[in-house]
Amino acid sequence: MSRRLLPSVVLFASLCATTLAAEWDCHVTLSLHDYDLTSLGQETVERTRENPPSQMVDRVTFDLCKPIQEESSDLPTSDKACQCPPGTYACLTTTNKKAGADDRIVAVVPLATSSSLDPAFSRTNDDALSVVLHGPPWPTSSTTSQALNVTLICGENEKPVIAKHESDNGVMHINWRNKVACPESRNPPENTTPPPSGGDGQQGSTGSGIGWFFFLLFFCFTTYFVLGAYYNYNNYGASGWDLVPHRDFWRDVPYLFRDLFASIFSNRRSYSGARGGYVSV
Ligand SMILES: *[C@@H]1O[C@H](CO)[C@@H](O)[C@H](O)[C@H]1NC(C)=O
Repeated sequence: MSRRLLPSVVLFASLCATTLAAEWDCHVTLSLHDYDLTSLGQETVERTRENPPSQMVDRVTFDLCKPIQEESSDLPTSDKACQCPPGTYACLTTTNKKAGADDRIVAVVPLATSSSLDPAFSRTNDDALSVVLHGPPWPTSSTTSQALNVTLICGENEKPVIAKHESDNGVMHINWRNKVACPESRNPPENTTPPPSGGDGQQGSTGSGIGWFFFLLFFCFTTYFVLGAYYNYNNYGASGWDLVPHRDFWRDVPYLFRDLFASIFSNRRSYSGARGGYVSV
């Protein structure tokens, strides 16, 4: 029984982890500013590399907010099967073109997929917003994970462009000038959506997102304790405090906090002490 319980605990824990990680709703909060990226749709960008006597055309289809929709593309049907799998947020296709010959797709790479999305954000030095979505290793036998790094630059809306492709570490860089990255469009709860009932329209939805997060956290925690207690009971016939999973760790937690506060407090005291000394001089 307990041997069957452990895999289900692991499964559940990973399920919890994925649910928490899958909270990507295309809103980015960085240093107290909120960026709403939901207005950015699916885009396709291309660049051509001369490779005499032929040309290599890199084409990236991506959507920062949801998996890309199958394009009604002009690809030869024989190559249709090698399109990126469902759940792909960014797909790189490289086509070899040569005068007098049929176009030939030479690479199809899922750069970012829902199963390994792990969105990461940062602000670049010149105040642009960079969003990175991750993909699995590709080819599957390699250790190089793929990623799409989109730099959103404040400005009038333009088409995105491929900046560079670091093929050795699998990162595709795209620059995109768009109003969503502008300071004035940051954190404007009142003027984007008309509040439904007198006030905190946007705030409500952010609040419920946070509430949902804490609910999941609480839910995972409760399940951890219940299943852990069940496991201890089943395996060791534990009762009382012994039911608590990883009891020794949890027993130490209050002391860890006490030490933490003690060290904060002693820092404060020595600081005010020093100031007192300064004042008296
Ligand atoms: C994306 O790439 C840019 C450079 O092109 C870099 O400054 C930025 O830190 C990268 N973003 C992340 C989140 O790593």
